Amino acid sequence: MTASHGMYPSSMCIAVSTGGGDAPGLNAVIRAVVLGGLNRGWEVLGIRRGFGGLLGDAPVVSLDREDVRGLTNVGGTILGTTNRGNPFKWPVPQSDGTWVEKDRSDELIDKARLLGIKAVVAVGGDGTLGIAADLADKGLPVVGVPKTIDNDVGSTWTTFGFDTAVNTATDAMDKIESTAESHERVMVVEVMGRYAGWIALHAGLAGSAHAILIPEIPFDLDKVCDKVRQREVLGRKFSVVIVAEGAMPKGGSAVLKAGAVVGGAERLGGVANLVAEYIREHTGKETRTVTLGHLQRGGSPTTFDRLLALRFGAAAVRAVEEGRTNHMVAFDPPDVTTVPLREAIGHPHRVPLDCDQIRTARELGMSMGD
Ligand code: F6P
Repeated sequence: MTASHGMYPSSMCIAVSTGGGDAPGLNAVIRAVVLGGLNRGWEVLGIRRGFGGLLGDAPVVSLDREDVRGLTNVGGTILGTTNRGNPFKWPVPQSDGTWVEKDRSDELIDKARLLGIKAVVAVGGDGTLGIAADLADKGLPVVGVPKTIDNDVGSTWTTFGFDTAVNTATDAMDKIESTAESHERVMVVEVMGRYAGWIALHAGLAGSAHAILIPEIPFDLDKVCDKVRQREVLGRKFSVVIVAEGAMPKGGSAVLKAGAVVGGAERLGGVANLVAEYIREHTGKETRTVTLGHLQRGGSPTTFDRLLALRFGAAAVRAVEEGRTNHMVAFDPPDVTTVPLREAIGHPHRVPLDCDQIRTARELGMSMGD
């Protein structure tokens, strides 16, 4: 990677940035964007640390073949990322230790023009794609690429990163089951997903959970305790509950981590403790919790995620070439298509209550906590 000063912009120059929480497959997208651009004779720049690279946070770099060699199976992002880099609400520290938010979007757009950037491929989840749509409204041509382990971006059948996260969570469920059985305990496994229950639902099904708690179905813990007791009567003296971090009790709200994040979204976490404590009190069973946390975001992408990420990256460059900016690439099996950015971010993808996965879980006798 070499620093680009934008002195001699090539006739066609695009840039790529990765924003928000990382997800397995980001590097594969970068590789496809870089090779797709270079093979058209374009220059490809890398904006580091989300959009922050255009605001002096890190140098903008010129990407060539060497930079993306062997990247398809590598987790993380070579460009770095942040979930605190909204240029419209840039956090500026004050001398008294507080922060104020400043709109630096004009500065960002000026910098992109100075560098000769004709379009930005913005890889991110709902937050980053929302920022991309706002920048597009201000005149910066953008193509969005939907990324997130949460699978909560609208207008795409799935996002890359999700399949890898579900594999990690399912693997954990398999391991948890044997120790739960040995000790005749109730294990409560908390997974990520923000306000969508996709990871919990898929890993719960594939990992044979006895109860699956998701944000879309507010839970009644007495129903979960009933399930634990029913199993006990059948001689099954252990149970495994999987709970999405954004799941909430009926009439209650999601459990947030203490400490606001300046310039970032609220942080979810801790619901497993609430669930485990209730089950312990009401069934007398010994309980333990496991929070999988950022393990779900790390590691090498699965084959499915690698393919999707490469196809998304290639499709994003194609979209720029064909003048379809201010769109997001999307998976509409078997094709990768594009949809208007605003349409995608306006409709978050949450678990439909009548979906086949929920019906399957219920028909297998799993409790959905209701
Ligand atoms: O959106 C991806 C995600 O991993 C969520 O599932 C989770 O709530 C959040 O990011 C955690 O973010 P952070 O990196 O700030 O801990």
